[in-house]
Amino acid sequence: MTSEWWRTAAIYQIYPRSFADANGDGMGDLAGITSRLGSLEALGIDAIWLSPFYTSPQKDAGYDVADYCDVDPRFGTLADFDAMLEEAHARGIRVIIDLVPNHSSDQHPWFQEALASPPGSAARGRYLFREGRGEHGELPPNNWESVFGGPAWTRVIEADGTPGQWYLHLFDSSQPDFDWTNEEVREEFRRILRFWLDRGADGFRVDVAHGLVKADGLPDWTPPQGSGSMGGAGGVTVGEDGAGVALEPAISEENGDGAPYWAQEGVHEIYRDWRRVLDEYPGDRVLAAEAWVDPLPKVAKWVRSDEMHQSFNFAYLETPWNAASLRTVIDDSLDAFGSVGAPSTWVLSNHDVVRHATRLAVTADNPQGHGLGPRSKGIPEYADGLRRARAATALMLALPGSAYIYQGEELGLPEVIDLPDDARQDPTWFRTNGERYGRDGCRVPIPWEATAPSYGFGPTDASWLPQPAQWAELARDRQQGVPGSTLSLYQDALRLRREHDLGSGTLEWLDGFDADTVAFRNGDVTVVANTGSAPVALPGGTVLLASGELDGSLPADTTVWLRA
Ligand code: NOJ
Repeated sequence: MTSEWWRTAAIYQIYPRSFADANGDGMGDLAGITSRLGSLEALGIDAIWLSPFYTSPQKDAGYDVADYCDVDPRFGTLADFDAMLEEAHARGIRVIIDLVPNHSSDQHPWFQEALASPPGSAARGRYLFREGRGEHGELPPNNWESVFGGPAWTRVIEADGTPGQWYLHLFDSSQPDFDWTNEEVREEFRRILRFWLDRGADGFRVDVAHGLVKADGLPDWTPPQGSGSMGGAGGVTVGEDGAGVALEPAISEENGDGAPYWAQEGVHEIYRDWRRVLDEYPGDRVLAAEAWVDPLPKVAKWVRSDEMHQSFNFAYLETPWNAASLRTVIDDSLDAFGSVGAPSTWVLSNHDVVRHATRLAVTADNPQGHGLGPRSKGIPEYADGLRRARAATALMLALPGSAYIYQGEELGLPEVIDLPDDARQDPTWFRTNGERYGRDGCRVPIPWEATAPSYGFGPTDASWLPQPAQWAELARDRQQGVPGSTLSLYQDALRLRREHDLGSGTLEWLDGFDADTVAFRNGDVTVVANTGSAPVALPGGTVLLASGELDGSLPADTTVWLRA
């Protein structure tokens, strides 16, 4: 068994805008991250992944990059990055950064040059410019829709002042897609990889890793009903009692896979090329794919032995809190990733989805990416959602492989539902005229100290999204060292996971348990999760960890770890 760190790592996602703000301008920054790394070391994680902090107009919260090799002044400087990396490494924490290769910002010098250059020029050839359809080119070149809503094409005004070509943007109109058939684009990204590897980054989380290559001819395509907004993932269908009943089919081989912009075979050669770049460097550097692809055996193609190291397991994230569905997705994940020699990953929350302290107990259909707001239905009581989320996390952290944690979930933060309309910033909100709330509700700056301004997010009251009054109780200092707090649960689970080598263990299903339970052994630890509504018998053994109070039985929505 190989001991590469990423096979078993607990990786903590930092969303820099909302983690810690050193200069008090209401936007988190790199110096803020550095100042709080001690808390993450105490939490017991192995690595951090930082969402983008590069030069960017922030039209999509930094996933619109204008300079891939510099830090946006809002977040600090390259020297701040170096200091953060050094401090993280000194604490034994590895640092993965985000790479956004599908598109740049429209403020990127290449795109500005393309706009100033004529159709057919080399500058336009780095992006996907096309002539429009219709008599005067007034219609978009094809029928593709942006993931954030509305058409995936925008028409430019040419130098002579007349409407001219169109450019493709799978996301916001401020995010033009690169043309990955262009060797100059490929070479530029090798340079970017090396720039950060030379600085000491431990790896990259690769944004939209299923989207870079588009089918020849850019043919029309209409997604099947129910396909979700992040590009391929379907929504979860939820039963009356709030328990999920099935995974609504995502775009898959069965139901019309074939979107000419997702999961094209050509992407794999790009990752083989990048893998060769990473392999030039010492120290187990990693590539992690954000590929919203279905089903799992297809996701596993991204982590074949000469491609990336990890791929996010969105099938797991989308699985409802339902024992049968969980058993199936766990088996499918271990089989699919295991078949190519990769570890499975596990994830419940990130900056694109409704926080799982809310999501797992939502009782109405809520397609991924649509978000929640005052008009949404089926929103659970906080205590019910939190109870289920804690049970789900305790289950996830016992699974073999690598687990991702999103900042704030260790505090039990719920989705913020009641953000004022004028505070919302997700392009989804604007591009759908407020029909979809989007992702701001999971991005609110996190609370550190109950009585400090902005709950210790920064030295002032400023916070780029307003923080709910109830978050004082959830602040880290209120939970630190408090038995039974969500923070203590995460700390204990991460410590035990390490002590019992659960990340590198082998899962063995246990028979004889209620149908509503997920029960397995991993090494010397027995794990039982009760996803039903009635208590079930607690097996014998010493309790190592419990996600909720045990009263002689295992209550509903509770997970326990035992040593036989
Ligand atoms: C996936 C990122 O996680 C999301 O936040 C972003 O909006 C899109 N990719 C586009 O870059």
